[in-house]
Amino acid sequence: MPICRIFRLTPMKAYLSESALSEVDADLVAVPLFEGDSLTEPLGNTAGASDASGDFKSSVTVYPGKPERVVIVGLGKKEDFTPEHARVVGAVAHGALKAVKGEALAFMLPEVDEPGPVAAALVEGAAFASFSFDDFKTGSDGEPAPPELKTVEIVAGVDVSEEVRIGETVGNAGNRARYLQSLPANVATPEYLANRAHEIADGHEKVTVEILDRAGIVKAGMGGLEAVAKGGEDIEPRLITLKYTGAGSGEKLGLVGKSVTFDTGGISIKPSAGMHEMKMDMSGGAAVLEAVNAIAELDVPIDIIAVLPSTENMPSGTALKPGDIITQLNGKTVEITNTDAEGRLILADALVHCAREGADRMVDLATLTGAVLIGLGSTYAALISNDDDLAAAVSAAGDRTGELVWRLPLHDEYKDLTKGEITDLVNASAQRKAGTIYAASFLEEFTEGKPWAHLDIAGTAWDTGREYWGKGPTGFGVHLLVALARDFATQA
Ligand code: BES
Ligand code: MN
Ligand code: ZN
Repeated sequence: MPICRIFRLTPMKAYLSESALSEVDADLVAVPLFEGDSLTEPLGNTAGASDASGDFKSSVTVYPGKPERVVIVGLGKKEDFTPEHARVVGAVAHGALKAVKGEALAFMLPEVDEPGPVAAALVEGAAFASFSFDDFKTGSDGEPAPPELKTVEIVAGVDVSEEVRIGETVGNAGNRARYLQSLPANVATPEYLANRAHEIADGHEKVTVEILDRAGIVKAGMGGLEAVAKGGEDIEPRLITLKYTGAGSGEKLGLVGKSVTFDTGGISIKPSAGMHEMKMDMSGGAAVLEAVNAIAELDVPIDIIAVLPSTENMPSGTALKPGDIITQLNGKTVEITNTDAEGRLILADALVHCAREGADRMVDLATLTGAVLIGLGSTYAALISNDDDLAAAVSAAGDRTGELVWRLPLHDEYKDLTKGEITDLVNASAQRKAGTIYAASFLEEFTEGKPWAHLDIAGTAWDTGREYWGKGPTGFGVHLLVALARDFATQA
C-alpha cells in the first residue's frame, strides 16, 4: 500500500457576476423565493413555476429557455432567514444540479439586509453538499469520478466579492478536511498527515513545518504521545508543528488538533461494532491543518502555531498497559487507568509544546469523548474554557459559521476526580461522571496558565445529518477557526 496517495480533491471555483437572469450561463440557475413573495415575470409565467412555494428547503426545477434551467429554491420566512438557512439552500440547489448532472451552478443572490454572509453561505452549502469520496471506487476506466461541482456563480447587484472568495476558500478547505477524515487508517497514517503538512507549507511562503518522529518525541519528553504510540510497532508517530506568520508581530494563536489515525482503544480495547469509524479520530487535526491552509490562502494578518500530535492507538505486546505510569512533557505524572482515554495524553503534551512555542492563547479540537455524543448529540460541540473572553469569541464564531458550540463548566469538584492516588493525575475515572468535563479538566493541567478553549467534536465531526454535510465527515471546525482567526486579526 503506498503511504501517500496524491491529494485528488478538485477545488470548486466561485465568482461574482452582475448578469441579468436571462443571460446567466450555468447548467442550473437557482432563483430564491421567500415565503409569501411572488416570482417576477417572465419567470413566473414559465410552465411549472406556479408550483414553487417559497417554503424553506423546497425546490422546483423549470425550463424558461433563457436561461435553460432554473431551480426555484424556497427560503422560508424573510424575517427568519440567516446565513445558516442559506447554507442549507445551497445544498438544496446542489441537489437539483446533481439531478440534471450539471457542474456549473449559479445563484441569484436574494435581497437581504446583509448580503455578504449570505453569498458566502450559499457557496459553502453547495460546495459541502458536493463532497463525495470516490477515490476507492473503480469506475469502468479505473479513473476517479469527475467532480460534481466545478463552479459557483453568485449573481448580485452588490459587491460581495470578498465574501464569495471566503465562501470558496472555506468550502474547499472544509472538503479537504473531510477528505482526510474519510481516508482509511492504512492510508492516512501519522506520516501521511506530516506529508500533508509539508504540502501545505510548500504551498505558502508564510507557513513552515517541523516534524518530530518517534525518537524526537521521546527525546523531547513527550511521554503521553510516546506512551500511546508504543502499541503501533510499525506505524510511526509524528508530532507536527505548523507555523503561519501572517502578522509577524503581536499575539500568537495556538491551535491543537487530536490526530489519532486509528483508535482501537489499545489494551482497553473497544467493542468491534462500529470500530472502523475510529479512523476519524484525527478529525481535530484534519480541521486544524486545513484551517491553517485556508487562513494562509486568505492571507489573514495573524500569527498561528498549530500542533498535531499524531499516532495510532493499538493493542500489542509493546502497548501501554492499564496501571502504567507516564510523565508528560510538563513533568506531571499520570497513572493510566484506561488506555482508551488516549486523546488527553497526546493533547496534554501538544498543549504544553504549543504554549512553549509561544502561543498566547490556545484552542484545541478533539474527538475526545463518547460522552459528548450522549450529552449534545451531533448538533453542538462541547466548549470548555478557562477564559470567558476566549469562550465568547469561539462561541460567536460558531454561531456565524453554523458550527455550533455549547459551553460546559469547569469546577474544582470535577478536578478532584482527575487526581491520582499514587500519581498527580489518572487519565480516566472509574466513576464515569461528567466524562466530557473530566477530559477537559485533565487537559487544563497542561495549558501553562494560558487562556484556552477546548472543543470536543466527537459528536459533530461525523454523521451529523446536517443537509449540507449529510452522513460521514463534516470538517467541523475548519470554518470556525478561519472565522476566529479573522476576528482576532481585525482586533489586532
Ligand atoms: N476517540 C474516542 C472518543 C470518540 C467516541 C470519538 C465516539 C468519536 C466517537 C476517545 O479516545 C475515547 O475512546 N474516549 C473514551 C474515554 C473513556 C475511556 C474515559 C470514551 O469516551 O469512551
Ligand atoms: Mn480512545
Ligand atoms: Zn480517541
